[in-house]
Amino acid sequence: MKRATIIILIAILLIILAGKIIFFPGHKKNADARSGGPISKISEKTEWLAPDTSLIPHTAEGDLIRLGRRLIANTSFYFGPAGTINHRANGMNCQNCHLDAGTRIFSNSFAAVASTYPLFRSRSGRIESIEFRINECLERSLNGRKIDSGSTEMKSMVAYLKWVGKEVLKESRPRGAGTEELAFLDRQADTLKGRLVFQLKCQVCHGPDGQGILAIDKNSYIYPPLWGEHSYNTAAGLYRLTKLAGYIKYSMPFGTRYPAPQLTDEQIWDVGGFINSMPRPVKFFKYDWPVLETKPVDYPFGPYTDSFSEQQHKYGPFGPIKKAKGALSK
Ligand code: HEC
Ligand code: HEC
Repeated sequence: MKRATIIILIAILLIILAGKIIFFPGHKKNADARSGGPISKISEKTEWLAPDTSLIPHTAEGDLIRLGRRLIANTSFYFGPAGTINHRANGMNCQNCHLDAGTRIFSNSFAAVASTYPLFRSRSGRIESIEFRINECLERSLNGRKIDSGSTEMKSMVAYLKWVGKEVLKESRPRGAGTEELAFLDRQADTLKGRLVFQLKCQVCHGPDGQGILAIDKNSYIYPPLWGEHSYNTAAGLYRLTKLAGYIKYSMPFGTRYPAPQLTDEQIWDVGGFINSMPRPVKFFKYDWPVLETKPVDYPFGPYTDSFSEQQHKYGPFGPIKKAKGALSK
C-alpha cells in the first residue's frame, strides 16, 4: 500500500516536471540567445545590444569573424599608407566612425547591416550587397580603392558584419542602428561659431589644424584627421551635414555616448558646418543619385530639382528644402 502511494506521488511529480519543460521553456530561450542558438530576435522596438565577442566560435568561421573585426578596428595597420596587406586607404580606421567596431549604438553602429542588406539605395540607384557597401566606405570615407569581393579580407569583414547583426530580425532596424537624426535648425549652420566649438571641444585631440595625431609607428592615428588630404572625401557620408551631426551627437567629444550628448544640437550643427567647410579630397562617382529627386536635402552638389542653392543644401536651413520636396512628391 505505502509503496504504491510513493510510486503514484513520484509519477505525479514527473508529470508536473515534464509539463514545466514543455510549457515554460522561457529561461532556456535566453540562455540560447547568448550562446548564439535559436532566439527571440531583436526588432524595431528593441534597443540593440551587440553580441558578446567572447562568444565568437572557435572554428574556422570564427577565425574569419575575428579577422574581420580586426580589419575594421585597425584598418590602417592592414590597408593604410604603410599597411601590411596593401596601401589602399588614407590611414583612418573603419572604427574611427563606426565606434567599437560598430557595436556602439547611435555611433554608426552596424546593428542593421545583416538584417537589411542586400539593400536598394538611392545613392547608387541599385541593390547593394554588403561587399559593395564596404567598398563604398573604403573609396569615400577612407578615400581609398576598393578590394576584391572574393578576397579573404572582404569575406572576413562580411562574416563579422553578419555575426554582429545575427540576432536582429530580418528587415528590421533596431533602436541604435546607425546614428540619430537631429531636428533641423531654422537657420544655416554658423561656421564661425562652429570654429569656436572646435577650438574649445575638439582641437585638444584632433589638433589645432584638424589633421589629427599620428601614432609613433606613423602607421595609424591616435586621433584621426577631420579635414585635409588624409580625411574622408567629398563623396563620403560624413560630408553630408545631417550625417556628421548625427555622428557627433552621441560620439564626440570622445567619451560621449548615448543617451548623454555633451554638446547642444546648435553647437553640433555649427561645428559640423565648420568641419565640412574646410578643404578635403574631392571625389565624385558618376553613378551617384541617378534620380535627381532622390538627392537628400543636405547633398551639397547640384543639379537639383528644386531652386535652392548648393550653399543652402550644404549648410541649411534644410526645413524649407524638405518642405519643397514634400510638395513636389504630392
Ligand atoms: C569617415 C567615417 C567613416 C569611415 C572611416 C567608415 N565609414 Fe562606414 N559609414 C560611415 C557613415 C557616415 C555611414 C552611413 C552613411 C549613410 O547613412 O548614408 C556608413 C555606413 C556604412 C555601412 C552601412 C551601414 C548601414 O546600416 O546601412 C557599412 C556596412 C559600413 N559603413 C562599413 C564600413 C567599413 C567596413 C569601413 C572601413 C573599411 C567603413 N565603413 C569606414 C562613415 C564611415
Ligand atoms: C578626447 C579626444 C577627442 C576629442 C576632445 C574629440 N575627439 Fe573626435 N575623435 C577622437 C577619437 C579617438 C576618434 C576615433 C575614435 C575611434 O577610433 O575609436 C575620433 C573620431 C572623430 C570623427 C570621425 C573620424 C574622423 O576623423 O572624421 C569625427 C567626425 C570627430 N571625431 C569629430 C569630433 C568633434 C566635432 C569634436 C569636438 C566636438 C571631437 N571630435 C572631439 C577623439 C576626440
